[in-house]
Amino acid sequence: MTFDRSVKIAPSILAADFANFGAEIEAVEAQGADWIHVDVMDGHFVPNLTFGPAMCAAIRPHIKTVMDVHLMISPVDPYIEAFAKAGADIITAHVEAGPHIHRTLQAIRASGAKAGLALNPGTPAEAAAPLLDLVDMICVMTVNPGFGGQSFIHSCVQKVTELREMIGDREVHIEIDGGVDPRTAPIVTAAGADVLVAGSAVFKGGSVQNPAPYGDNMRAIRSAAA
Ligand code: DX5
Ligand code: ZN
Repeated sequence: MTFDRSVKIAPSILAADFANFGAEIEAVEAQGADWIHVDVMDGHFVPNLTFGPAMCAAIRPHIKTVMDVHLMISPVDPYIEAFAKAGADIITAHVEAGPHIHRTLQAIRASGAKAGLALNPGTPAEAAAPLLDLVDMICVMTVNPGFGGQSFIHSCVQKVTELREMIGDREVHIEIDGGVDPRTAPIVTAAGADVLVAGSAVFKGGSVQNPAPYGDNMRAIRSAAA
């Protein structure tokens, strides 16, 4: 992965057909997705359950771009190696997920993956300050993690501005996760974000049989964000 700050759209397969992930990923990539965002939930750190490393390994051969694995789990450390072996390019852990986030980020990099740090809406930008040299991406949650289709929390935008300033020249992406659509995308890219996760706003109206709406939806987000 080479670093750049161009806008990247990362469809969240949380909004795809769970019975058909391989074909959904191929369809959304053919329609212009830059990365594929994979939401792992444990029913403990967040009030929902999704899937684990075996599912990530199963979908890996269908991903030609970047496999961006968002771990909404606690503890994180016992599972890092398994997600790295499953082929994750980026593994993101939450700062709120445990007492030793510094160790977790070191372990992610040691596994060979890029390290992401996610901040819940209630967590200030300062939580990332001591960790800026250990991360390749900061994921600003603009909804409370656990579910797709929630409304964007506008008070999180100020945090993006602060993080962009803190990051300076470091090669650290800012990812936005939750409620991204053509109305909210330009607000966060103006504040300094470059990776836009979108579930409902990408997958709505389309299917594997009729994938053109995926392309239309991503073009609408991209042109609004430009
Ligand atoms: C929420 C997940 C998101 C979610 C976004 O916990 O981390 O990635 O799928 O879904 P939308 O785009 O529908 O808000
Ligand atoms: Zn996510």
